[in-house]
Amino acid sequence: VRVRAGLIDPDGGKLVDLFVDKTQRDVWRREAVALPKVKLTSIDLQWVHVLSEGWASPLRGFMRESEFLQTLHFNSLRLEDGSVVNMSVPIVLAIDDSQKQRIADSKRVALVDSSDNTIAVLNDIEIYKHPKEERIARTWGTTAPGLPYVEQTITGSGNWLIGGDLEVIEPIKYHDGLDRFRLSPAELREEFERRNADAVFAFQLRNPVHNGHALLMTDTRKRLLDMGYKNPVLLLHPLGGYTKADDVPLSWRMKQHEKVLEDGVLDPETTVVSIFPSPMHYAGPTEVQWHAKARINAGANFYIVGRDPAGMSHPVEKRDLYDADHGKKVLSMAPGLERLNILPFKVAAYDKTQGKMAFFDPSRAQDFLFISGTKMRTLAKTGENPPDGFMCPGGWKVLVDYYESLAPA
Ligand code: ADX
Repeated sequence: VRVRAGLIDPDGGKLVDLFVDKTQRDVWRREAVALPKVKLTSIDLQWVHVLSEGWASPLRGFMRESEFLQTLHFNSLRLEDGSVVNMSVPIVLAIDDSQKQRIADSKRVALVDSSDNTIAVLNDIEIYKHPKEERIARTWGTTAPGLPYVEQTITGSGNWLIGGDLEVIEPIKYHDGLDRFRLSPAELREEFERRNADAVFAFQLRNPVHNGHALLMTDTRKRLLDMGYKNPVLLLHPLGGYTKADDVPLSWRMKQHEKVLEDGVLDPETTVVSIFPSPMHYAGPTEVQWHAKARINAGANFYIVGRDPAGMSHPVEKRDLYDADHGKKVLSMAPGLERLNILPFKVAAYDKTQGKMAFFDPSRAQDFLFISGTKMRTLAKTGENPPDGFMCPGGWKVLVDYYESLAPA
């Protein structure tokens, strides 16, 4: 993949692209028939997608043990030339005892989807123990029961991990009407070039955009213009992979984001809306590093981070799982992210004196209203309105429609 001048270099210098030559697809499919098969879950498939397009560059496949251990213990990978790139969440593929036996001493396996279609071949494989407790404790900082990604993908998974180099037969598609928004890092880089961006600032999100989020984005644009950039472009980059059950589904969030642009809260002229294919871990300061690192590969050199990124409520106790300020603190110090300009933001809340979202001022705390995700969902569910200025009316209507669509008839 050609990387053009002007944008930030991908990690490792070169954007990884793990697709086989188009003309060789059938050859690969035929060869794969003879190989031991590993069935991919839908979340495994999302990771194949992530790896195939180079979001995790320079990683070339599911992690081998050395990569897994560096990720767990250092949140980074050391490359052959001695340089360090950030890598904070394990990208691994679990298999069980019987699958391990079937693979025996084969050096390659075929990765197939739930209908047995060959998706990819994993080459030069290495099988090693899946230390689940250690993986969970180090990634989430707790082994408390009820962590969504853990329950979904780790608890019931096999006792072994299989790593290797991926050769992916063709781009992963979801056929949900949203594929045109799933731009690869290479395609995003082309789009930023086409727009002549001289700075790219990324905003990761998994929630509907309220005016507090918008404040972070518009404030960033102002700051970048003040710094002398002529054409800063926003990458509004909703996460499109696995999310927990009570998060708003991607299709509804995309409708909501469309309204936010239509209603003029964000400027379509200077905004690229695209879907980030990664699944969500809810691993707070550990995961926000992954979110930031992946956006370097997509060409972003500025990264916005606010309150409690990739956070959630503690699964058992009545508090947030992570300190709401740790995400931005960790991101500003993270190994391998030195090239990325981190833009940390204070918490935004509804300022009753102004009737709009504003940065929280602790000296007049009583003037502010915090509208949590839970609060927002409750309002939308019960058909109540949030205070004027919390979210654009078009965007709010989408949320109300979503919760209405869930209500029993
Ligand atoms: S995340 O899991 O993708 O991080 P979310 O969609 O809630 O969650 O947030 C997207 C970004 O907005 C993150 O950088 C987060 O820190 C920031 N953010 C969310 N709510 C606020 C808020 N009220 N004030 C400041 N920043 C916020």
